[in-house]
Amino acid sequence: MSDDKLLEVKNLTTIFRLDEGILTAVNGVSFSVGKEETVGIVGESGSGKSVANLSVLGLIPTPPGKIIAGEIFFEGKEILNIPESEKRKIRGKKISFIFQDPMTSLNPYLRISTQLTEGLIYHNRISKKEALSKAVEMLKWVGISEAEKKVFYYPHQFSGGMRQRVMIAMALLNRPKLLIADEPTTALDVTIQAQILELLKDLKSKIGLSLILITHNLGVVAGMADRILVMYAGFLVEENITEELFLRPKHPYTKALLKAIPRLDKKEGEDYYTIPGSPPNLVDLPDACPFHPRCDRAMDDCRKKMPLLEKIGETGRFACYHPIV
Ligand SMILES: Nc1ncnc2c1ncn2[C@@H]1O[C@H](COP(=O)(O)OP(=O)(O)OP(=O)(O)O)[C@@H](O)[C@H]1O
Ligand SMILES: [Mg+2]
Repeated sequence: MSDDKLLEVKNLTTIFRLDEGILTAVNGVSFSVGKEETVGIVGESGSGKSVANLSVLGLIPTPPGKIIAGEIFFEGKEILNIPESEKRKIRGKKISFIFQDPMTSLNPYLRISTQLTEGLIYHNRISKKEALSKAVEMLKWVGISEAEKKVFYYPHQFSGGMRQRVMIAMALLNRPKLLIADEPTTALDVTIQAQILELLKDLKSKIGLSLILITHNLGVVAGMADRILVMYAGFLVEENITEELFLRPKHPYTKALLKAIPRLDKKEGEDYYTIPGSPPNLVDLPDACPFHPRCDRAMDDCRKKMPLLEKIGETGRFACYHPIV
C-alpha cells in the first residue's frame, strides 16, 4: 500500500442471511481513500453504500450480516480481523461517522453536553470539566452561537440544521483522520443542506481530514468530492476523479444518475428525471450485469456475466461491456 492512502478496502463482500436466501449487499468492492481526500459514494437506495461503510466501521449486525471476504487497511494496518476492543479504539476516534438522521443518532433524553463529552472522556481520559470546555469550543467551531448555554440543551431544542451541526461537532471532537458522512443532509431543506456542506468543506480544509461523503444525489458531491465511486446493486460500477466522471461517464448507470440530478433551473411543472425501472432484488442475484434490465445499451453478453472493472485512463475504472464512448 502506498503511503498516501489512509484507507484501503479490497474485495469487500458483505452478506445478510435472510429467510428468503442470501442477500449480497456489497459484492467484491475495492476502493481507497487518500490522506485529506474527499471521496463521494453515490448510488440509488439499496446499492450498498451504507453497508460498505458500516463494514469499514465494524458495525455490521451479525447475524444476520457477515463480511465473507475482503481486507480493510487503515493507516496500513489490517482492521477487519482485529478484536472488537481494538475496533472500538479506532471507531469514534480515528474514524468518525455522521448518520443520515441526527434524531436517531442523538439520544433525545440526554443533554448535548453529556453526549458530546462521553466519547472525549472515554477516548482521552480527561476530566469532565476539560471535556465540557472542549465540547463548547467545538460547538462554536461548527457555528453554534451561545455555545456555553446551548451545550446544556436537549436535541429537540435545536433545529434540524443545528442538530446536524451538533452531530458534526460530536464526530470531530476526537480529531479523527477519516470522517464518514452518510447522507448528512438529506433530511434538511436545500438552503440548510448547502450550509452544512459548506461547513464540512471549511472544517475539512482546516484540520486536514479525509472524508467519505455518501449520497444518492450526484449533485451533492459535485462541488465537494475529489473522486466519486458509483455503486449499483452492491457492485462498484464506475469510479473516477469528479471532473472526468461528470464530463465523460462510461457506465450507462452513471450517465442516468447525472441526468437525474435535480436542477435548479427546472421550470415549473417540469418533472425531475427519474431512472426508469428499479434496482434488482439482491437475494440470489444471477451472474449478469445487474443494470441490464434498465439499460438501453444492454445486449446478450450483459445478461450472461457481470462485467469486470476495466481501467480507463490514469484515474478511472468502469464495469460495462458497452460503455459510452
Ligand atoms: N440489517 C440488515 N438486514 C438485512 N438486510 C440489510 C440490512 N442492512 C442493509 N440490508 C440490505 O442491504 C442492501 C444494501 O443496503 P444499504 O443500506 O447499504 O443501501 P444504501 O445504498 O445505503 O441505500 P440508501 O440510499 O437507502 O441509504 C439493501 O438491499 C438492504 O435492504
Ligand atoms: Mg444508506
